[in-house]
Amino acid sequence: MCGIVGYVGSEQAAPILVDGLRRLEYRGYDSAGVAVREPNGIQIVRAVGKLRNLEKALEDKHLDGSVGIGHTRWATHGRPSKVNAHPHVAGPIAVVHNGIIENHLELRAELEAEGVQITSDTDTEIVSHLIHREVTAGHDLVTAVRRALEHVDGAYAIAVLSETDQERIIVAKSSSPLVLGVSEGASYCASDIPALLPYTNEMVFLEDGEVAVLEAGGFSISTLAGDPIHREAQKISWSPVMAEKAGYKHFMLKEIFEQPRALEDTLRGRLDRENADVSSSEIGLTEDDAKSIRRVILLACGTSHHATIAGKYWLEELARMPAITELASEFRGRDAVVGEGDLVIAVSQSGETIDTLMAAKEAKERGAKVLAIANVNGSAIPRMADASFYTHAGPEIGVASTKCFMAQLANLLMFSIWLGRRRGALSEGEAGELVEGLARIPHLIDERLKSTHETVAELARHYSGARDVLFLGRGLSYPMALEGALKLKEISYVHAEGYAAGEMKHGPIALLDAEVPVLVLAPQDRHYERVCSNLQEARAREAKIIGITTAGDLRAQSLCDAFVEVSPTVEALSPFVTVVPLQLYAYCVADHKGTDVDQPRNLAKTVTVE
Ligand code: G6P
Repeated sequence: MCGIVGYVGSEQAAPILVDGLRRLEYRGYDSAGVAVREPNGIQIVRAVGKLRNLEKALEDKHLDGSVGIGHTRWATHGRPSKVNAHPHVAGPIAVVHNGIIENHLELRAELEAEGVQITSDTDTEIVSHLIHREVTAGHDLVTAVRRALEHVDGAYAIAVLSETDQERIIVAKSSSPLVLGVSEGASYCASDIPALLPYTNEMVFLEDGEVAVLEAGGFSISTLAGDPIHREAQKISWSPVMAEKAGYKHFMLKEIFEQPRALEDTLRGRLDRENADVSSSEIGLTEDDAKSIRRVILLACGTSHHATIAGKYWLEELARMPAITELASEFRGRDAVVGEGDLVIAVSQSGETIDTLMAAKEAKERGAKVLAIANVNGSAIPRMADASFYTHAGPEIGVASTKCFMAQLANLLMFSIWLGRRRGALSEGEAGELVEGLARIPHLIDERLKSTHETVAELARHYSGARDVLFLGRGLSYPMALEGALKLKEISYVHAEGYAAGEMKHGPIALLDAEVPVLVLAPQDRHYERVCSNLQEARAREAKIIGITTAGDLRAQSLCDAFVEVSPTVEALSPFVTVVPLQLYAYCVADHKGTDVDQPRNLAKTVTVE
């Protein structure tokens, strides 16, 4: 994971680098460092722990220079420590790196045999020595970077600074993300768009196997082999304000409250209400594509995987399309059956998750068509896909995904309606009801958000001491139960399990006693009666039942110790409303416990390691 940033211009580099790192801190936060090119050489400041420790260290050591690179780390090779923090130095060379160098042990042995002293446990330091070796052999810095990278296997986005070179930064990438920014008199690089938004919205996405030279007057791109590439900067529509907290205590809370807006933006221009349909031009596939699909394979990780389970249920029910979900990490390398006629839908907020990217690539190589559902324009997964259907949730900063999940649900449902119409599985009337219902969802969420937050905050205070929590749901509520449990685990460090309500008696029931809260999703759908029975079964074991119930459903509510009301919806739309109290529950428990909600321990937002 990790975040990297670079600046070349006429301003002081250090504050710009630190500001960029703050916006990238969600990618990793166990140590951080910057290197700035001063008149007498490169100065490096590194600190273990959160970025504020680096800021403190920079108060004691003022860096004076207008060219620099920075890094925030999520440890892979070598524990979090000052010596393992980036930038890594070899002679006049300083390097920051995001990714994993797979053959680093081999390269380390080779360098050590040549007498090179390696001081850290990281794979990155190896890269700095490889570049130094090429510079010592007489190559200019760009050639040295190219030649060094010839030896490297694995994933990387690197930024390189040299005290003997001109005022410039050399960057290169393979698999890990890297975006370049340009403004009047300055060039930037970063792992992600939000880091650069306060400075420019003119950006360029570097592709795998490319090297770029950043100078104050602009940038140039070439291949690793040295062939020049011309690429225009594109305007990014995200504003810097979208990546700020706007008065909320945490980004996660802000993002939960932004969900009606994120949904509206994601639905905008896509629902064809006149024809009870979803606009074909937005989906990215043709009518012929729709007819040739034999099966859909939904690939994703984490929260996005939970969205795909709802997607599978919708595709089966609304489009009568055989659909399977696969955890991308399990799909890879196991020789899964996939090929022509399969449509792979790769769902990823960041568009960079390495397992999803590689799994989708593997499927494409075997003849499947790939449709990307991603939130970051121009990210790796949409770039490798045959077609892209973007979510428009805006930048998501909280490590625990909320508004992007909501937007993913919307895209998966829209895709199912579109396919259902084309396959004749969904009548105009049925589709019309869904399209109209979906258009109303942002309002339904919005009108209850504040009161749900209050109710849930009270519940969270009461139950935050629980050691284990169970989340139960059937049908479309099952993936929401999984998501509710994941959210709670991620940010409050409470053991939580999401289970299909019908499966409770095959295991989790053994955990139940008066100490265990059970959150039961009980919307009034076709599963309602059976869910009420499961709820009674849990209650009979003295578990404390918190119901997520349809507003006014006195029957279900009378069976619960406490309940939260959600707005009634058409059955297929229930996930949009039932997941909100679960997100808020996780948030409120974590906030009550005082954990670091936006940057929970050991996690990172964008997982670019396998
Ligand atoms: C990490 C994040 C999760 C996210 C998952 C998949 O684990 O912490 O919030 O759901 O990666 O990320 P993606 O960007 O592919 O949706």
